[in-house]
Amino acid sequence: MTAGSTHQDVLDWTNACWDRLPTAPALRARAGEIAAKLAAEIAGGKLPFLATPFMAALEKDLADLEAKYLPKFRHMLLLGIGGSALGARALQKAFAPGQDLPGHTGKSLWILDNVDATSLEAHLSRLPAKDTLVYVVSKSGDTIETIGQYFLVKEWLKRELPADWKDHLLLNTDEQKGYLRQEATQFGIRTLPVPDNLGGRYSAISAVGLVPAAFLGMDWRGLVRGFQSVAGPLADPGLDAQKLSQHPSFEFALWGKALMDAGYLELITFFYIPAWCSFADWFAQLWAESLGKDGQGSQPLPAVGVTDQHSVNQMFLDGPRNKSCLFVERAQGPEGAPFPADMPAIFDYLQGKRFGELLPAEALGTRMALCQSAVPLVALRLGKDDAEAAGKMMALLGAATLLTGWLMGINPVDQPAVELGKRLAKARLGADGLEKEKADLLAFTTGDRDERGF
Ligand code: PA5
Repeated sequence: MTAGSTHQDVLDWTNACWDRLPTAPALRARAGEIAAKLAAEIAGGKLPFLATPFMAALEKDLADLEAKYLPKFRHMLLLGIGGSALGARALQKAFAPGQDLPGHTGKSLWILDNVDATSLEAHLSRLPAKDTLVYVVSKSGDTIETIGQYFLVKEWLKRELPADWKDHLLLNTDEQKGYLRQEATQFGIRTLPVPDNLGGRYSAISAVGLVPAAFLGMDWRGLVRGFQSVAGPLADPGLDAQKLSQHPSFEFALWGKALMDAGYLELITFFYIPAWCSFADWFAQLWAESLGKDGQGSQPLPAVGVTDQHSVNQMFLDGPRNKSCLFVERAQGPEGAPFPADMPAIFDYLQGKRFGELLPAEALGTRMALCQSAVPLVALRLGKDDAEAAGKMMALLGAATLLTGWLMGINPVDQPAVELGKRLAKARLGADGLEKEKADLLAFTTGDRDERGF
């Protein structure tokens, strides 16, 4: 891309440091193989995340919910964890930030993605049940953190609203399987389906993230439009090696894999759009849970500009030389107020300037400092930081993650390593079976320990 580019949204590869990534040419040559795999998986219905075959029906459902159901509520209490929560939170922080600002009177979204007894109790004792919609999101329908909360929240609704409790529940879960689906069938609770093969961290642009977006009055159609404009070409039956090579997600994927090959094992995501800082957490889960496999991967390091310039940035700049960076910024932010005329002489350089000029100046300073510290860096620069741009970015990073995983030779849509901890926790709670886990737990908790007071 040249300085005179007319593109509104740009990936700037100037400082990607290809010359330090010797495996990049061989990875680039795999475009044909990856294009064929994409075509096969799309044809087999394995990648609804990219093809979005569910979208037409969902758009209709969302329009109905928006017209008749969501306006009844002032609060939404979202129960979900991981991919069932992080996309919604990122969208909320970016496009409905009012709840974090003084004087908020509009709608509120409360996301409970932990098993924190204090927080759950506080929400249930302070939220008015009659104005609250509980949105339970779980693809499997069995996740203990989400279902554990659901049991208590359901009791609360039944106690507070004996006649109407079901009308205050909306479940988003698998169409056939899982405990939540059973609940929906048994009690006739309103549901939205999580389509087959749409895994949690790839599902933000489905009912998982779009229902909260619609509830908060976001431009969810813009999100979908942006998402499909980037994801759609990858699902096109005419995709071939040449077209894939020109798709930014493939370029990002081969950069990501070549970085790992060259020992860059940490990937900073520096967001210089302050309200978008939770996208860094969304991406961290997407990248880490998808790619941390078989001793491979790179650790995502979420960071927010300018705040983290005074925190972890010293390590980015002068710690181990194993870091790369995705630097996200926008062409133009708000101007902000003018600085007052009567500032002390040492701040003379701010005379005649506005508060909004600090952020881009500091972004440039940090981006350049990272480049000068030899951190391979790609800048994602958005013309506008609106919903459509967010949809584009989410499709780009989602697809790039998937393709990076394929280049690594791992499965980017599962997460087998996290299962052990879940089984051990269940064993600890006395679940049936799990005899080996119970024996291992006993050995782990009763063996000799090196514990010292401090
Ligand atoms: O990305 C993933 O697949 C996971 O993080 C899941 O979203 C998370 O484990 C929650 O799963 P579920 O939606 O089945 O409750």
